[in-house]
Amino acid sequence: MELLYEGKAKKVFKTDNENEYIVYFKDDATAFNGEKKAVVYEKGILNNKISSEIFKMLHQKGINNHFIKRISDREMLVKKVDIIPLEVIVRNIAAGSICKRLGIKEGKEFKKSIIEFSYKNDEYKDPLINEDHIIALEIITEDEIQIIKNYAAKINEILKEFFIGLNIVLVDFKLEFGKYGLDIILADEISPDTCRLWDKDSMQKLDKDRFRQDLGQVIQAYKQVLERIEK
Ligand code: C5P
Repeated sequence: MELLYEGKAKKVFKTDNENEYIVYFKDDATAFNGEKKAVVYEKGILNNKISSEIFKMLHQKGINNHFIKRISDREMLVKKVDIIPLEVIVRNIAAGSICKRLGIKEGKEFKKSIIEFSYKNDEYKDPLINEDHIIALEIITEDEIQIIKNYAAKINEILKEFFIGLNIVLVDFKLEFGKYGLDIILADEISPDTCRLWDKDSMQKLDKDRFRQDLGQVIQAYKQVLERIEK
């Protein structure tokens, strides 16, 4: 298969079908824009499974997404989309970069969920941008921003309810969208690499912060998430 793209945690391959790609989930973990790197054994397998289950669930709830099927431990067949170079971040509770940026204490529950946009650009470390930047730089149109914001808000409501059913608090997460014909659909992955997930009772972190903050038990935390989903 022809490798189309290699990112920090995934590879994308072309297939014989021009409308489909294969996403391969690696064990590589990176943080702080690639400054911290490690291999987390079997992370790719867990993220492929977790993402697949979440994409299936979102599809059932009416959220169009690129997932077709999981075809092996580390591979997912997806619809070919043109990725929009934006990271759409939704925050319910303060953690991570917003705490550093605004001096807020981790754990503060926001009165209203926050949607942020970052421009996907490794060289410039995915800088935060606003809707005016997106329109001015012709990344997408004003209407398309609205479509994405509506999607992000709806996905947040669905995911919050889904995770609370697993006794997990959805702190924040990152989404990526792609153009599929005339439509905009959800793409990339939804996993403990791209979400902050806290156990509701113990507030223990069940996500990539275990790697970022050297808390240990990274893979055990990801396994916890998968086990609760599969129950
Ligand atoms: O680092 P920050 O606090 O801005 O991250 C917010 C959320 O977006 C976290 O859940 C993080 O895992 C996710 N994220 C991501 N990929 C990035 C940046 C953030 O999945 N490049």
